[in-house]
Amino acid sequence: MKRIICLLLVMLVCAFGMQGCASGAVEKKNVKDNVAVSAEKSAKPETETKKGKQMENKLFELAAARRSIRRYSGDRIPDEVIREILKVGMAAPSSFGHRPVEFVIVRDKISELALCKSLGGSQILGADAVIVVMVKQDRGEFWIEDGAVSSAYILLAAEQYNVGACWVQIRNRNGMRKTSDEEVRELLGVPKGYAVLNLIALGGKGESKKGYGESDFDFRKIHYERY
Ligand SMILES: Cc1cc2nc3c(=O)[nH]c(=O)nc-3n(C[C@H](O)[C@H](O)[C@H](O)COP(=O)(O)O)c2cc1C
Repeated sequence: MKRIICLLLVMLVCAFGMQGCASGAVEKKNVKDNVAVSAEKSAKPETETKKGKQMENKLFELAAARRSIRRYSGDRIPDEVIREILKVGMAAPSSFGHRPVEFVIVRDKISELALCKSLGGSQILGADAVIVVMVKQDRGEFWIEDGAVSSAYILLAAEQYNVGACWVQIRNRNGMRKTSDEEVRELLGVPKGYAVLNLIALGGKGESKKGYGESDFDFRKIHYERY
């Protein structure tokens, strides 16, 4: 009798075990299926994706929360946080993978830097730090794109750390005496062969701005197969 009970117990345990394995396999299959379905759905208009469960999109949440912050709290942004933010900027794609973008972090000369842009430069005055984004010109056809992609990554990374940030244009802008690009390079001792694309002002958020939501975007701007 004891033997029969033992045998029954063993059979029960095995049956549960197999079910567990089987359901694990189903779960894996579902994940795979979901990816396939997601890929299929993403090729269709947005309204159709709404019929199903809303896909998680953490990057959208971050990107939509990011706003240009032009007033700062005065809080210090630790060097380590700026380093983490710049790591993201350096992870951006670049033309031919040349990674021609370099940065100068300015804390002590923010007021001099502001003077390099006669119209609108003063907006960086309250920032805790300013990242100067410059791009090496030696293989340069796509330097603007390289600098811009990296800057966009930096803006997103700043939001991730709840750091206020704003792009301040330098290329094609003027200072008091020369172009803004020339004046910034002079001020910071940037060697020949670089161009300054923009600044990114960083600081604690001194203003709160509503993030974006899906309703802010016109999904008719996405076209499929042809305009
Ligand atoms: C190429 C480029 C140049 C910009 N130049 C400036 C600038 O010089 N000064 C400024 O305050 N904001 C500048 N901005 C920020 C835009 O004004 C801002 O992104 C836009 O108004 C949308 O607001 P949001 O960033 O809060 O979504 C620039 C943004 C880009 C992408």
